[in-house]
Amino acid sequence: MTTSALHAQLTQTLGRVHLPSLGEHYQGKVRDTYRQGDRLVLVTSDRLSAFDHVLTTIPFKGEVLNRLAHFWFERTRHIVPNHVLDMPDPNVIVARACQPFAVEVVVRGYLTGSLWRDLQKGTHTAYGVAFPEGMRKDEAFPEPIFTPSTKAQYGQHDEPISEKEILARGLVSARDWARITEAARGLFLEGQKWARTRGLILVDTKYEFGKVGDDLYVIDEMHTPDSSRYWVADEYEARLAKGEAQRMLDKENIRQWLIRERGFQGHGTPPAIPDDVRVSLAEKYLAAYAQLTGTPLALEPGDVHARIEKNLQARGYLK
Ligand SMILES: Nc1ncnc2c1ncn2[C@@H]1O[C@H](COP(=O)(O)OP(=O)(O)O)[C@@H](O)[C@H]1O
Ligand SMILES: [Mg+2]
Repeated sequence: MTTSALHAQLTQTLGRVHLPSLGEHYQGKVRDTYRQGDRLVLVTSDRLSAFDHVLTTIPFKGEVLNRLAHFWFERTRHIVPNHVLDMPDPNVIVARACQPFAVEVVVRGYLTGSLWRDLQKGTHTAYGVAFPEGMRKDEAFPEPIFTPSTKAQYGQHDEPISEKEILARGLVSARDWARITEAARGLFLEGQKWARTRGLILVDTKYEFGKVGDDLYVIDEMHTPDSSRYWVADEYEARLAKGEAQRMLDKENIRQWLIRERGFQGHGTPPAIPDDVRVSLAEKYLAAYAQLTGTPLALEPGDVHARIEKNLQARGYLK
């Protein structure tokens, strides 16, 4: 899709989702979820959140995230079962409603992003992970590390937490934590392996898990450019050697823009996001999709909300 077509879509993005007859509603930062008994209808909006603030909308972001999450859930279902039941619209997943764990499982293959920023500030010790001394920014860890965080209520910031504290506070039982970390490691290694074959590095990611009875499921989203960092693989070594920033196809683009251009890191009033920044982030997300799946998205410009309603009606989810 051309840059001007993306500009044209700016006024038709999916900011608010209003489908009250779908069921009990919860609005997250990015997704709107509706409960129908033991199923959840998850609508991924075009909202952009960074540093726990919703800042603007990005054309086709919801569709890219939802389709990519679906792509990854399908590719990895032999490793860990996931919550997906159906995808009635490019922006919608119907999922098994699970009892979510109160922690988000962040897995990192490289020293970068917020962990690097924590390290500069000396606040990296909160995770209780010892990592090698003297590592450079963007260097790979000998093996993936876990830096979990608590899952905050809407409007609150997620807080880093150590494995020891997760267990001590009884947020997750020792048995479940062992299953969760094993599952997360398996998913991450599979993600890294696939990304490599597509010329990308899966740098880090965040998983959420839930249970139905005693069965464990990956829930929410998976390996999307919102929940993960992706770097361009063939430039990695040269950029690392020169101490240059990596070429990235993910949300870190906007985090760095906010810090660099607006001095914003989550405190105070969030700045307005100019249209050209919105469009250029859309291009990054679309590039990530095309590169990971091998097929560029055939996008339908137009009113996303109206299309969702039509598709949900046709599939019997919306009366
Ligand atoms: N299968 C599921 N069962 C229960 N809760 C889920 C499931 N999948 C996702 N969720 C929850 O739905 C919400 C999705 O909305 P999102 O915008 O990601 O919220 P947040 O602002 O908390 O990140 C999250 O709170 C997530 O934990
Ligand atoms: Mg979320």
